[in-house]
Amino acid sequence: MADQESQSWPLAPMRVHQRSDEENPAFKALRKERTNKCFVYIFAGIVILGAILLIFALIVLRSKSPEIKLKSVTVKSLDYSTSPWPSLNATLIATVAIKNPNFGPYRFGSNNSAVFLYGGGKLGEQRIRQGKATAKATKRVNVTVEIRTSRLPQGSNNLGGDLSSGMVNLSSYCKFTGRVHLIKIFENRKTAEMNCAMTLVLKTKMIKNLRCD
Ligand SMILES: *[C@@H]1O[C@H](CO)[C@@H](O)[C@H](O)[C@H]1NC(C)=O
Ligand SMILES: *[C@@H]1O[C@H](CO)[C@@H](O)[C@H](O)[C@H]1NC(C)=O
Ligand SMILES: *[C@@H]1O[C@H](CO)[C@@H](O)[C@H](O)[C@H]1NC(C)=O
Ligand SMILES: *[C@@H]1O[C@H](CO)[C@@H](O)[C@H](O)[C@H]1NC(C)=O
Repeated sequence: MADQESQSWPLAPMRVHQRSDEENPAFKALRKERTNKCFVYIFAGIVILGAILLIFALIVLRSKSPEIKLKSVTVKSLDYSTSPWPSLNATLIATVAIKNPNFGPYRFGSNNSAVFLYGGGKLGEQRIRQGKATAKATKRVNVTVEIRTSRLPQGSNNLGGDLSSGMVNLSSYCKFTGRVHLIKIFENRKTAEMNCAMTLVLKTKMIKNLRCD
């Protein structure tokens, strides 16, 4: 009953209100508030999207140094003698693994080389051919290194003793330079170092205890 009454009487003024709703200041204010809220939401959305893009870009575009390790060392040839003086010649095939953690390729030039040492003295060095480790992948390259103990400084080692014991400890070092290509504009120079140690067993012509840090 109350419904009918309210419907019949305030109908006329309500119509008037509806007709002039554009000019109604209360309605206008409400609309304005809604548009303002809408802008706030759009703005917040843009800010959140921007933050997400920024985080994504920082993760994806931040280039990291690759990881260089000796995967294996194979003895191709080995000659040694203890008289008239201690001497060892060998040809080693070292498999170097270049692990690229980036979302873009890592290209390296021909200026990188693997060095083999005995007691801190250089036995041999071989350049690593230029190449590329693709994104998120590990590139393996073989390096053939000629080792000559005649290159060592005279008399500052225990080669004679090591040769008679049948075990010669070697180490391998490599400082690696290359560039990470993420987008055309981003080319970051990244260097990495490799330090490995191993034991050459003369009797079996094998490398054991190969470890890198
Ligand atoms: C190692 O090579 C050098 C020359 O490079 C040679 O004089 C020496 O006799 C070789 N030693 C052995 C054990 O073959
Ligand atoms: C290559 O390496 C040598 C020494 O290892 C260095 O003197 C030289 O500047 C390097 N060249 C380039 C182009 O990086
Ligand atoms: C690298 O050398 C290892 C051991 O000699 C061999 O098994 C492998 O096939 C070689 N890889 C390449 C790419 O030459
Ligand atoms: C060679 O290396 C092994 C393993 O690290 C070590 O146990 C041994 O003492 C070393 N030998 C010499 C003569 O340095």
